[in-house]
Amino acid sequence: MRSAPARHLISLRDLSDSDLQGIVQRGAALARLAADGTPLASGSLAGTVVGIYFTKTSTRTRTAFSAGALRLGAGLTTYGAQDLQTNTGESNEDTGRVLSRMLTALVARTAGDPAQMRAWTDQNRMAVINAMSADEHPTQALADLTTMTLHFGAVDGLRILYVGEGNNTAAALALALSRYRGVHLELRTPAGYGLATDILESAVAQARANGSVVHERHDLADLPTGLDVVYTARWQTTGTSKPDPGWRAAFTPFQVNSALMDHARKAVFMHDLPAHRGEEVTGDVLDGPASIAFPQAENKMYSAMAVLEWCHGVW
Ligand code: CP
Repeated sequence: MRSAPARHLISLRDLSDSDLQGIVQRGAALARLAADGTPLASGSLAGTVVGIYFTKTSTRTRTAFSAGALRLGAGLTTYGAQDLQTNTGESNEDTGRVLSRMLTALVARTAGDPAQMRAWTDQNRMAVINAMSADEHPTQALADLTTMTLHFGAVDGLRILYVGEGNNTAAALALALSRYRGVHLELRTPAGYGLATDILESAVAQARANGSVVHERHDLADLPTGLDVVYTARWQTTGTSKPDPGWRAAFTPFQVNSALMDHARKAVFMHDLPAHRGEEVTGDVLDGPASIAFPQAENKMYSAMAVLEWCHGVW
């Protein structure tokens, strides 16, 4: 068990290439064991206690980390939006210092400024894991790459079309895929709802260094050919709202439907879920033969287990 300083995962940019790829490979290995019927209960996190602090709604990520921690033998304690003394003025730094004396990891969804999570890392005993901040959803991307690894055997060389808002899921996907070789990630986002400039520039530069391409534009013309994956996300990202009351008009052309999938006949369809059928995706695509969105959701648990093991120095 961990004797070295805690390993935090606030951003994918915190991970070395080997750590990122190690987490993805470990998540895929756990998924394969589960598919073979091997019980995943293990004692690798026995004696640890993981805190689950979600101030925003979650079905998948919260359950993935809770079930994953329990399967690894950890204890759990959970907090909701109203539970911590930060609500009454205790500083984030003090909160992190205190929790680190009792917990070995804190999995947190704030959907807010990642600076709050960074403040909790002002200690070296408790790992802090970002389960979604405003700018990035790093554990979603790790689960997505795990899913791609399971489906295609490797991530290198894949051609991926992301359609929809340049939100925290898209940001994490761009930061993660650009770490691989020969990948083409094409982002098609409504004008005014693209990737944050710093994230896009970082992903583009990283991709170029790896012989990959990350490219964004704001229409659906001239889609790339030979696509392996079409990916979308809900138009109303968790924890956010759109000030423009006319935002739907900008998003409507970006629906993933059978006409769009006709441009990508050999591609699988991925979605981080939750979905709104009839908005970002039609039901025939989400529930159709190309969709791997529900195995993708299951893979969040195997990936969460890999993240927890990595944070605790199991491997
Ligand atoms: N994809 C995702 O993060 O799902 P939840 O919001 O249900 O955790």
